[in-house]
Amino acid sequence: MSLKPILARLLGPWLFDPAAWLYDWMTANSAWQESCANLLTPFPDGAGGGLVLDLGIGPGVSALSMGVRRPRARFVGLDISREMLKHARAGREQVGWPARRLMLVQADADHLPLADESFDAAAAHSFLYMLPDHHAALIEANRVVRHGGLAAFMEPNADRADWGWLLRQLSGRLLFSFSLWRFYNWLHGRFSPASLTAAFERAGFRKVETESALGGFGIYGWARKR
Ligand SMILES: C[S@@+](CC[C@H](N)C(=O)[O-])C[C@H]1O[C@@H](n2cnc3c(N)ncnc32)[C@H](O)[C@@H]1O
Repeated sequence: MSLKPILARLLGPWLFDPAAWLYDWMTANSAWQESCANLLTPFPDGAGGGLVLDLGIGPGVSALSMGVRRPRARFVGLDISREMLKHARAGREQVGWPARRLMLVQADADHLPLADESFDAAAAHSFLYMLPDHHAALIEANRVVRHGGLAAFMEPNADRADWGWLLRQLSGRLLFSFSLWRFYNWLHGRFSPASLTAAFERAGFRKVETESALGGFGIYGWARKR
């Protein structure tokens, strides 16, 4: 038996709970925050701003960064890890958002405790790849998004990453974080434009668009619910 499945099992998503403090530190950098903020690029900042579900919110960086570009949007941040949600709560307090702007929910993305068609968009930043059954999570995301609503994901890219881009960022924190992320997604999975498109379409989303992110380390996928 090869080492990879053994390591993948040992270093599963459960790790995010005890290592929430490390992950918080790793993602406190402008490249990651910018990538999170870009998730809502195709989402119109219309009247009311919209309600966005952030799947796997982690320490809060994804929703808090999206919110900078969408000042009228409200968010529900969902995570399975209690420790990550503690960090997200602290982050929300630090930026002075009221709880109604970012509600936090502890749940498994495979079984969302949320009503059908109750969101304008479901977003996830670096999330899907680590799930044992990402189809179940996408089906749930599709269920809770309204018709015509958006799915916006950023996942690890199966294509060659541009390590030169990473070195040009001149950040030791970024080099450490991206090296660890690349190792972790080598263990758990990556998406190509074709596989991300297929995953969205299998769950009932349409009009999928993909784009390289984070110097080729990541890939965006945007889709619409019919
Ligand atoms: C790599 S972190 C991403 C955090 C944040 N979105 C970001 O971009 O930095 C993935 C998060 O997904 C959470 N997670 C893993 N499996 C999950 C599941 N089945 N349901 C909900 N959250 C899950 C982990 O606890 C972790 O906080």
